Amino acid sequence: MKKILILNGPNLNFLGTREPEIYGHGTLADIEKLCADTAVQHDMKVDCRQSNHEGELVTWIQEAITAENKEPQFAALIINAAAYTHTSVAIHDSLKMLSCPIIEVHLSDPDTREKFRHTSYISPLAQNVIKGKGADGYRQAIEEIAKEL
Ligand code: DQA
Repeated sequence: MKKILILNGPNLNFLGTREPEIYGHGTLADIEKLCADTAVQHDMKVDCRQSNHEGELVTWIQEAITAENKEPQFAALIINAAAYTHTSVAIHDSLKMLSCPIIEVHLSDPDTREKFRHTSYISPLAQNVIKGKGADGYRQAIEEIAKEL
């Protein structure tokens, strides 16, 4: 069964109470359930992880790379690096070594917000960027991967 790695970055563990006017009332657990349910419909499963630490996200990407060198482990990576999207050369560099398709997701549309959110270090490495669709963006990302497999 194909597996999709889903990485969520800092402060996304506070979804539901964090700025609901921007991010909605759904929690990260709701998003993870939506992802698992969507994946199952396509005979796939998800491995959802969240971290507030840049280095931990890099380590998880590196683990996926190491596994890929032996046998393809993940069919794709879906990543919402949250604030690290706009700052992290380290995450950019690790994603560059990953062979599987990468889809970048944002609940809000960073391009319509503060200027410091307009730069993404992830986008140059992503086959698609889904933003401003709320939790449904994750579902759309899984549907896109399923279509390609
Ligand atoms: C976000 C957008 C980022 O700018 C912000 O730092 C986040 C969440 C989103 O999903 O809309 O934490 O990635």
